[in-house]
Amino acid sequence: MIVTRRVVGIACLAVLVAVLAAGPAHGALSDGMECQRVNELLDIKVYWNKTSATTVDLAISAPIDAGWLGLARFSGGTMSGGDFAFAFLDGTTPKVLDGFRSAAGNEVISIDSTNSLTNRAVERVGGVLTARWTKALDAPADSEDLTWAGTGSNAMAFAMSTSNPSDPPVSSDFHSGAYNKFSIDFTTTAVCTPPPPPAAPPPPSSAAVDLTDAFTYADGDFVMKFKVDTVRNVISMSLSKSGTAGWVAVCFTTRPGLMGPGDVLMAYASTAASGGYIVSDRQNPSGRAAPAADAQQDAQAVAGAEVGGRMTVEFVRALNTNEAGDAVITNSDINIVWAIGSATPGGGAGTALSLPSKHASTSTSEIKINFFTGKVTEDNLRERIIKAHAWLMILAWIFMIPGGILTARYLKDALGVWWFRVHRVTQWLAVLMTFAAFGMAIWFTQEDFKGENKAHKIIGLLIVIVTFFEPILGELANLMWSPDRKGTPIFPDILHWWFGRFLSLFAMINVYLGMKAKEWGAAPYVIVSLAIAGYFIAFIVLQFFVGAVHHNASDDDDDGTEMK
Ligand SMILES: *[C@@H]1O[C@H](CO)[C@@H](O)[C@H](O)[C@H]1NC(C)=O
Repeated sequence: MIVTRRVVGIACLAVLVAVLAAGPAHGALSDGMECQRVNELLDIKVYWNKTSATTVDLAISAPIDAGWLGLARFSGGTMSGGDFAFAFLDGTTPKVLDGFRSAAGNEVISIDSTNSLTNRAVERVGGVLTARWTKALDAPADSEDLTWAGTGSNAMAFAMSTSNPSDPPVSSDFHSGAYNKFSIDFTTTAVCTPPPPPAAPPPPSSAAVDLTDAFTYADGDFVMKFKVDTVRNVISMSLSKSGTAGWVAVCFTTRPGLMGPGDVLMAYASTAASGGYIVSDRQNPSGRAAPAADAQQDAQAVAGAEVGGRMTVEFVRALNTNEAGDAVITNSDINIVWAIGSATPGGGAGTALSLPSKHASTSTSEIKINFFTGKVTEDNLRERIIKAHAWLMILAWIFMIPGGILTARYLKDALGVWWFRVHRVTQWLAVLMTFAAFGMAIWFTQEDFKGENKAHKIIGLLIVIVTFFEPILGELANLMWSPDRKGTPIFPDILHWWFGRFLSLFAMINVYLGMKAKEWGAAPYVIVSLAIAGYFIAFIVLQFFVGAVHHNASDDDDDGTEMK
């Protein structure tokens, strides 16, 4: 008995010593909470603990080195009508913002006037960003919050980005990685088991790259070689771009000329890969979100080199990978798009899962390739429409509108009644051309309206809106004009002049922004600049020798001033 008791006592002491020696548990923010993994691939977890009948502690975590995490209860479609927590580290300062989004859905979240989230904390430990806060249940804490159900299911969603946001977030703080819908009943208990190991790659299908006498496709900086082997049922490929940093990708797309949905092979250097290069097998979504890595990585025998200042990565892939969403390479035309990015994913030490930066250049044509025969068909309808948009706008705003303004300002006497006919026809035509060119712009920005060339798009939109009113003012000025009026009225005439001047000025600026966006060569710049220079010279000369002409009873003469 005594012996037994002593043994138990010593055993207990030993355990106590062991516990004390181990020190307190690590104490991560989410320790001990209920857990649901809401994205397997990116290992994003959401935690909860119902601390009272009317409060729940919530947390979200992701293994990201920078960026933000968002968690929402939503009432509309995904993320619309949402009541958000938006968490990030601002330097070392933890931020858990209380936000909301209207039922319209897709805009940047607004920040509540009162942050009703309490016990807010954010930490990054061991490369994992975790945020935690307390949320009211069963009744909204304020008018900008939603009711979160204390019992029963809550419709929720998360979003994340690997780029640090502004505070408050702005529209460029778009989520970069996946976002998902899920639901949680806070009365349930759940644990997150470690993520399943990534699925093993398919067995090497005698995976040697064979590019002897391969076909070559080159477009801009992108060069691809390919050769199908119908005995091994594989395709050997190489992807190449200039420079050593960044990534180069080809996408077998289901929508001609558009990024996705599609099956992507993205090549980049990585010191973490045994051969120094990775070809990440991914799937592009249909929108602008970054492509997510496939569970099964199908590029095999990856090898790369930098030769003559170009990065070239070759690999072999099964013609049919048997993975949902992957393209099956058959003897037929297959739509592809290509893209090149300038930053190396994972900072040069990435894995197949590393999120890429946005592309710096991309194919602009609709490209179809038969990988068996090497036949390439390119249809650059989109590019042609962009060109048509550009030249219509240049014709309208660099030639017709300034010409029409000069006619109205200086040639009233010289042309008699004809000045108005000329002015009316050139300006109406220019307005109609602007609307037509704007319609084209809507068509070719359908996939990416919020993307690049923001200034050009916003200025263009404003010009189109004002352009709608300008001819109405002009027609009104014509209707209301009478030969014996004493002076030029502010409405509509002077308003019409100033609208016209500002429109021309901004349209000229926008023409340059558009040419810059499309990286046009010197010739169009010269044409546009000469036309503008000619316009200003004509303006100065006519101002000196003719002066502004107004047909009012009081100033039939040329007075050279116009704000009279
Ligand atoms: C969960 O909430 C209860 C109070 O209801 C509290 O005692 C417990 O410590 C909490 N657990 C964690 C992990 O926060």
